[in-house]
Amino acid sequence: MNVMRGSGRGGDDPNRREQVLAFVSDDTSESIVRAVIAELMVPFANVQRGDAMAAGRYLASHRSPRILIVDLSRSDLPVSTMAGLADVCEPGVAVLAIGDRNDVGLFRDLIGLGISDYLVKPLSRDLLSRALGGLLEGRPETTGTGRGVARTGRVVAVVGARGGVGTTTLAVNLAWSLAEGNARRVALLDLDLHQGSAALMLDVKPGPALREAILNPDRIDAQFIERATARHGERLFVIAGEEAFDDDIPLASDGVSRLVGALKSQFHYVVVDMPDVTQSGTQQVLAEAAAVVVVGEPSLAGARDCTRITNMIRIQTPRQRVLVAVNRIGAYRRGELSEADFEKALGRPVDVRIAFDPVHALEDANLGHPAAARSGSLASGVRRLIDEIGGSPAAGVAQRGGGWFTRLLPGARA
Ligand SMILES: Nc1ncnc2c1ncn2[C@@H]1O[C@H](COP(=O)(O)OP(=O)(O)O)[C@@H](O)[C@H]1O
Ligand SMILES: [Mg+2]
Repeated sequence: MNVMRGSGRGGDDPNRREQVLAFVSDDTSESIVRAVIAELMVPFANVQRGDAMAAGRYLASHRSPRILIVDLSRSDLPVSTMAGLADVCEPGVAVLAIGDRNDVGLFRDLIGLGISDYLVKPLSRDLLSRALGGLLEGRPETTGTGRGVARTGRVVAVVGARGGVGTTTLAVNLAWSLAEGNARRVALLDLDLHQGSAALMLDVKPGPALREAILNPDRIDAQFIERATARHGERLFVIAGEEAFDDDIPLASDGVSRLVGALKSQFHYVVVDMPDVTQSGTQQVLAEAAAVVVVGEPSLAGARDCTRITNMIRIQTPRQRVLVAVNRIGAYRRGELSEADFEKALGRPVDVRIAFDPVHALEDANLGHPAAARSGSLASGVRRLIDEIGGSPAAGVAQRGGGWFTRLLPGARA
């Protein structure tokens, strides 16, 4: 039998997360890996016979393990093989590579990709035990050689230049499209703990966990995140609250950045529906973001608000990537600024324009479906936004085209 399950629970649930998943391509390595896993009493491990290509196929349809052991010895181009594998893996997974080439250059390249360690065959039971033991305890450097850089997901902060411009609509549709269209694991974090509407738009329940995380950051760990998020579809996870108005929850505590940090290690994208950014505590999220999307409306006041917010972000976090999205174009015929006038007032080009689309935006929001699920201005605007933030689909998405893994991993033999 391939699967060892110490805890006896789990079955074939694709959402169950293994502690250790190993793909090895020869008898000797397999028995050493099994022996070390037994010796370390890993509670939920899965050892399979196969190469990196098999690992990639498995990862495209299952949750990533905490630790992945992958055998690169059948790969002609192990570095590109590994880079391709990283693309189907969730961020934050510790990877232990094994191979048959004793080559310092290869070792250095793999470590540069974020691999925790590279062990050369024939596997030494002792070395593997030290490397794996260290990873299980969260120490990646036990063999004294590995120095992998942890990969993390990307934070996208969506900020409204003022209320009612469609910030939540855009954040929800962006998160949904990254999860459904691009097949990424996405967390949608609504930081308006009192009046947030992201959960409502997706018809999932807000819960007390967000408040708890902010007030007691020490409780935030992987299990906490599992419990705190409400799931929509397969890959979109929402974390939102609905607290009493008189309950003052200080975003300025380090709870918010700890939470965002924890989410980054489990999700490819963390989309944050931001509250008013003049509120203290929001700067930490902006500073963490790979991109900030400022949403405005095409009026004179809208242009002024957009300018003020983008300037403020530029002063606070000067190297930040800021994108401006103008939404609800055509909603206010009178007094609406032309594209040229808006850009003149803003002093920079607008990145994404989204027309007012009352049918899809309203109907779908009430039904708990994101409008981006259909064609229309919101869907195409969101796609533009994804292009701008550099969101490439997960490798598995190309699967429909056939032969994806061979294309993705030029070094992997069929
Ligand atoms: N492009 C759009 N077309 C039509 N209605 C939109 C569009 N964007 C947002 N809306 C609608 O505008 C209202 C405010 O949107 P919301 O996302 O809640 O704004 P905010 O979060 O900025 O307060 C909602 O009723 C929403 O459905
Ligand atoms: Mg909102």
